[in-house]
Amino acid sequence: MRIVVTGGAGFIGSNFIRHILSAYPDYHVMNLDKLTYAGNLENLTDIEQSDRYSFLKGDICDSALLDGVEYDAIVHFAAESHVDRSILDASPFLQTNIMGTYNLLEITRKKGCSFVHVSTDEVYGSTDDGYFSEQSPLMPNSPYAASKASSDMLVRSYVETHGIHAAITRCSNNYGPYQFPEKLIPLVMLNALERKPIPVYGDGMNVRDWIYVEDHCSAVDAVLHKGKAGDVYNIGVRNERPNIEIIRIILSTLAEKTSSDRKELFSLISYVKDREGHDRRYAIDPSKIEKDLGWRPEIDFEDGIARTIQWYLESRHWWERIISGDYLKYYDVQYGSRVKQ
Ligand code: NAD
Ligand code: TYD
Repeated sequence: MRIVVTGGAGFIGSNFIRHILSAYPDYHVMNLDKLTYAGNLENLTDIEQSDRYSFLKGDICDSALLDGVEYDAIVHFAAESHVDRSILDASPFLQTNIMGTYNLLEITRKKGCSFVHVSTDEVYGSTDDGYFSEQSPLMPNSPYAASKASSDMLVRSYVETHGIHAAITRCSNNYGPYQFPEKLIPLVMLNALERKPIPVYGDGMNVRDWIYVEDHCSAVDAVLHKGKAGDVYNIGVRNERPNIEIIRIILSTLAEKTSSDRKELFSLISYVKDREGHDRRYAIDPSKIEKDLGWRPEIDFEDGIARTIQWYLESRHWWERIISGDYLKYYDVQYGSRVKQ
């Protein structure tokens, strides 16, 4: 099977490429990525020499992008993904998440390949009690969530109208290696290591269902291979935790692992003005993917967060190059002639 992974230089996309190459020894993966600030080819240094992997620099909004390329499936991760940025400026979110997805749907229609659209539980909005099922109404609250909900609707319409083979996944909050340090968990890690204030929005009691990235990858794998065209699959692990609890766990573990003063680390916690439109709680009911596709998560939160903390501790070189901005130069220096423009 030849798979195009869009956004493969980002956090989840890079983990997914690694997952596919190790799970399927005869598969080929092409990573298609624009390399925005969130795209980092250093997420893939361990597999970039594989002859089953290639990289194509490009924008998913470019209609000629995949001309002349042979593939069986597109797994679509590429997106503007950070809620705070969508509040400051929604325009790249509309362009990439909506128009980019539209363009890929057109390409899918013409090529007759299959398509997996990686979406988010944020399209359902916030819920005080109960769980989002695939039938829950879409009530996005942030411009990011609205752009993802729009792309979900486009996917649905292309299945209904043009009969393409496409499925949608809606996953909860991911954490794990290679997450860009603008998101909560890596931000807490790096600020703590650098003894910088840790901003907690509002009262810190907003709840997310945290899933280890490898479990998300195995779920997308299940949908790619066994998902029904037109179906939506919620992905979550029933691991709901308020933000402040996550922050305390990270700080306690760091204090232990780095023999640091616990009090000093906890004093970095800094309550700040709440995010506008801040969703109170996301909670996913993943019974459908469990029942229909036999998917099960394998990494519980205690194990996953310990692995993640250890990874950030051992990957100082990776994140220091992000903080300094040097990672942005990697592409030109390392790739040169391998670039297919
Ligand atoms: P990320 O921001 O780490 O990576 C996004 C990648 O997409 C980057 O490599 C970037 O360069 C690329 N990209 C952006 N615009 C592009 C364009 N126009 N053309 C080509 N490439 C482009 O994001 P992530 O956290 O890995 O999320 C991946 C996907 O999973 C997104 O679609 C997101 O909505 C979805 N998702 C994320 C989470 C989460 O917790 N991070 C949860 C559920 C769903
Ligand atoms: P984030 O990682 O941005 O994911 P999302 O908004 O997509 O759920 O944020 C996770 C939670 O952490 C969310 O409730 C906002 C909160 N948060 C903070 O309290 N401080 C921060 O600095 C960040 C980035 C997030």
